[in-house]
Amino acid sequence: MKTNYPEYAQLLETRLTPKRYKHSLNVMERAVELARIHGADTDKAELAGLVHDIEKNTTPKILLQTIEKSGILLSDADLFSPQLWHATAGFLYARDVLHIADPDVLNAIRYHTTGRADMSLLEKVVYLADLTSADREYSDVREMRNLADVDLDAAMFYDMQYIIGDLVKHGKLLHPDTLACYHQIALERARRAER
Ligand SMILES: [Fe+2]
Ligand SMILES: [Fe+2]
Repeated sequence: MKTNYPEYAQLLETRLTPKRYKHSLNVMERAVELARIHGADTDKAELAGLVHDIEKNTTPKILLQTIEKSGILLSDADLFSPQLWHATAGFLYARDVLHIADPDVLNAIRYHTTGRADMSLLEKVVYLADLTSADREYSDVREMRNLADVDLDAAMFYDMQYIIGDLVKHGKLLHPDTLACYHQIALERARRAER
């Protein structure tokens, strides 16, 4: 797979399992595709998509140390959600080690797992590229892909409905950023329906 960031691809190959490395390339490709469709910056989408999981195969202990050292305060929801740490640590790695300065690229990495309120176009593109990349397999992945091609907000909403329902059903923690993301999209939809 061709990339404008071969040095980052090389680095990722040393840091990630083969499966996760392949996933990163797939997300990069899908992010460029979604950026093209929806008019986001394709170069930023390529970079954020490629790098988003750079800390995915780092041990939880190291991730927590990295985050704590950075001065980012972890809420209780963060502390008890180790599956989210790679996104925050990935953002720090991109900023502090790779010296990526673009705030939109950095936020797309940081919020690729939780989502958040007021996501930018690029953040939605990367979030949905992660869910609809070529390596993803789940029952309605085809619907998700079609929806993301047509309407990013509708795809975000569809995903939020599913993951929040699933988290609650299994008695898991629901991160405030995810809830805020859901709430904002639901509110926009309610306002639109009223008009
Ligand atoms: Fe991730
Ligand atoms: Fe990912």
